[in-house]
Amino acid sequence: MVRSWMTRGVALVSLVVILSSCNEVCKKSCSAKGKDGMDIKKSAFGKTPDGKPVDLYTLTNSHGLEARIITYGGAVISLKVPDRTGKLGDIILGHNSLERYVEPNHAGSPYFGCIVGRYGNRIGKGTFTLDGKTYTLATNDGHNHLHGGKAGFDQKLWKGEAIKGKEDVAVKFSYTSKDMEEGYPGNLKVAVTYTLNDKDELRIDYEATTDKPTVCNLTNHSYWNFTGAERDILDHELMINADQTTPVDSGLIPTGEIRSVDGTPFDFRKPKKIGQDVTADDEQIKFGGGFDHNWVLRKRGNDLSLAARVAEPTTGRVMEIYTTEPAIQFYSGNFLDGKVTGKDGKVYKHRYGLCLETQHYPDSPNRPNWPTTVLRPGQTYKTTTVHKFLTR
Ligand code: GLA
Repeated sequence: MVRSWMTRGVALVSLVVILSSCNEVCKKSCSAKGKDGMDIKKSAFGKTPDGKPVDLYTLTNSHGLEARIITYGGAVISLKVPDRTGKLGDIILGHNSLERYVEPNHAGSPYFGCIVGRYGNRIGKGTFTLDGKTYTLATNDGHNHLHGGKAGFDQKLWKGEAIKGKEDVAVKFSYTSKDMEEGYPGNLKVAVTYTLNDKDELRIDYEATTDKPTVCNLTNHSYWNFTGAERDILDHELMINADQTTPVDSGLIPTGEIRSVDGTPFDFRKPKKIGQDVTADDEQIKFGGGFDHNWVLRKRGNDLSLAARVAEPTTGRVMEIYTTEPAIQFYSGNFLDGKVTGKDGKVYKHRYGLCLETQHYPDSPNRPNWPTTVLRPGQTYKTTTVHKFLTR
């Protein structure tokens, strides 16, 4: 009798185990098939201080990855990806409502998740000469021009358009920057498209045309923290596919030198914890208050190629960045100081986020020998950056 109950018990337990593992398999294969899981939704996200409505686009793929992106600044406000156990978590810094994005002087948002333009990073003394004409730009970083000026593309309201493809979902943002906006010549028509697919990639395509010669260097300024801002990013392991950087002066303007990373804190050719050298006794590190520099990517031509890989050991989350751009700015969140509280009450303290901004080199308009950022009427500016999410 006792025996038969025991046998039945074992059989029942085995059945439960079999059923639950079958369920696991079903879950995996159903989502792998990508059955009806891909979606894009539009909803309201408040109003700008001058009363204009802001929209939120929520893109999801069949594996549950979810990107939420707003028309204000084209900013990615959250991005949920799985950890190694399949648990989804939000891995970028930002806010759940508009108020903090629109605060003056970037008080609530030091460029969280936004599109940066017309020129990403710095232009020395806020001036450059093109075709013999000298242009004076807004200076908003000491004597220098940073991220497009006082009201760069991060503070513009973009027009959003949802696009549902066969293999992906996308939102296309458009904005026209007027001739002489922030001091730049030419009416610049810009389109930035964020696409999420079932290969767990978030792709950003940038396009621009102009009616007068101008300069253009667009990027995205997401701050990544794969722990969900539970702690700083110093244990994240980073690989940058680059042999050289462009050293800077104390105002973070490139000196013109292209320097090998060999034997310096800037060598990320093999994966290295960010914390290892972020406080190294090195002049460049001191100028940046940590890493805030431009790496010259190893690449031939303009094809999409691997620029960087970030891995976080406790969650197993990994991101690879592929780009058509020649360079990448790695910023280790040195200016974050705990003054901003973000989503879920998380306080964004020193080095709680890292940025990897694909780009042309800073101050290129003043460096004729560097890859050009000049855009002329008749030409189309086109760049692509792909963020691929994996686990290990
Ligand atoms: C970039 C710059 C940094 C800083 C941040 C925004 O990464 O290089 O110096 O301005 O943006 O705070």
